[in-house]
Amino acid sequence: MLVEKHTFEEVAYLLIYGEMAGENFSDALKEMSSWAYVPESVLLTLRAQNKNAHPMGVLQTIVGAFGNSEFASSEIGLDTNPAAGLFNVVDSKYDEAQSKLESMTMVANAGYFVGTIGRWLAGKKPVVRSGFAKSLAGNILHQLKNGKYDDFEEVLMDKVLILYAEHEFNASTLAVRVAASAHTDLVSAIVAGIGTLRGPRHGGANEEAMKLMLRIRDPKSVKKHCDELLNKEGARLPGFGHRIYKKVDPRVKIIKPYVRELSRKNKDMRWFEITLALEEYMSEYAKQKGREIPANIDLWTAPLFYLMGIPLNLYTSLFAASRVAGWCGHYIEVRHIFKEPIIRPRAEYVGI
Ligand code: SDX
Repeated sequence: MLVEKHTFEEVAYLLIYGEMAGENFSDALKEMSSWAYVPESVLLTLRAQNKNAHPMGVLQTIVGAFGNSEFASSEIGLDTNPAAGLFNVVDSKYDEAQSKLESMTMVANAGYFVGTIGRWLAGKKPVVRSGFAKSLAGNILHQLKNGKYDDFEEVLMDKVLILYAEHEFNASTLAVRVAASAHTDLVSAIVAGIGTLRGPRHGGANEEAMKLMLRIRDPKSVKKHCDELLNKEGARLPGFGHRIYKKVDPRVKIIKPYVRELSRKNKDMRWFEITLALEEYMSEYAKQKGREIPANIDLWTAPLFYLMGIPLNLYTSLFAASRVAGWCGHYIEVRHIFKEPIIRPRAEYVGI
C-alpha cells in the first residue's frame, strides 16, 4: 500500500505525473519541503483578513493571491523553483509540463500556507521561506508547533496527507474538474475545490467531529449527546456516512491503529475511547434504521490532529492541503490528457 511504503511527496508526484518518481526524481522530492515560500503579496493579503474568518476561507483567499503573485503566475516562479530544472521542462510553452510544475509548486505551498495561517492566527511571525523540515508534513508541524514535534508525529502527519490526497470524484474534486473543463487556470480550479471541501457534509466533518467529542468529554456521555444531536430532523453525526462507502471506509482501518498508538504515546486514551464509543453508538443507531452508516476518515483524523496539538479550526485546511495533490491530477487529466469538453449538463424542465 502506498501509505505504508511511500511518502506524501512521492504520492503527489504519482498523482501529478501519472508514474512513480524514478530514483533521479525521488532525491528531488526529498527537497520538496524547501520549495515552499510565501510571497510578500500573499503575506499582505493574509494580514488584511479578518481573524474571525474560518481558516478555509482564508486559505481560499491566499491561494488565490498566490496565483496572482509574481511567484506562481509567471516564468519567474518556475525558473526560481528548484523543481523546474529537475522535471525536465523541455519547452515551457507546452501546457501539460507547465501545469505539472505548477502543481508540484502548489502541493509544496498548500500545506505551508496552512502553517502560515496557523501562525498568523496565533499572533506569531510568519516563517516566509521553508527548508528547515525534512518533509511537507514536517513543514506543517514545524510551523504549527514551533519546531516542537517528533519523528513519530511527522510520520503520522505524512500518512494522513497520503490518506486524504485523492478520492475519485468527490464533490470538491468534481468542482475542480468542472473548472478545469472551462480551461481556467490551475489556481482558480483549486480555489473552487477549497470552497467546496469546506462544507460540513464534506471536508468540514473532521472539525465538527472534534467539536462533538470536546462536548462529550467522556465515553459514558456519548449516548446522551448523540441522542440530543440526532433528535433534530435531518441531523447527521459528523464523521459517519458516505456517498459511496455504505459498509466501511477503508481509510478508517488504516488510520485507527495510528490514533491508538499516538494515544498510548501521549498517555491520553480518552479521545480514542470516545471515538470507539461513537462508533458503537452509530452501529446501534444504524441497526435500528435497518442500514449501515460507517465511520468515515474524518471521524478518526479528528482525535489524531487533536492529539498532535493541531488547532481545531485548521483540520479541514489540512485535508485541503493534501487534496491539492489529487485536485491537480484531475485538472491535468481533464485539461491536458483527455482534453475533455466543457462540462455542461442539461436540465429537464418539469414546469410548476
Ligand atoms: C467526505 O465523496 C467522498 O469521497 C468524500 C470524502 C473524500 O475523501 O473526499 O470521503 C470525504 O466527505 C467524508 C464524509 C464526511 N461528512 C460527514 O461525516 C458528515 C456527516 N455525513 C452525512 O452528511 C452523510 O453521511 C454524507 C453527506 C456523507 C453522505 O450522505 P448520503 O450518502 O447522501 O446519505 P444520506 O444523507 O442520504 O443519508 C442516508 C440515510 C439517512 O437516513 P434516512 O433519513 O433516509 O432515514 O443514512 C442516514 C440518514 O439519516 N445517515 C446518517 C448519517 N449519514 C447518513 N444519520 C446520522 N448521521 C450521519 N452522519
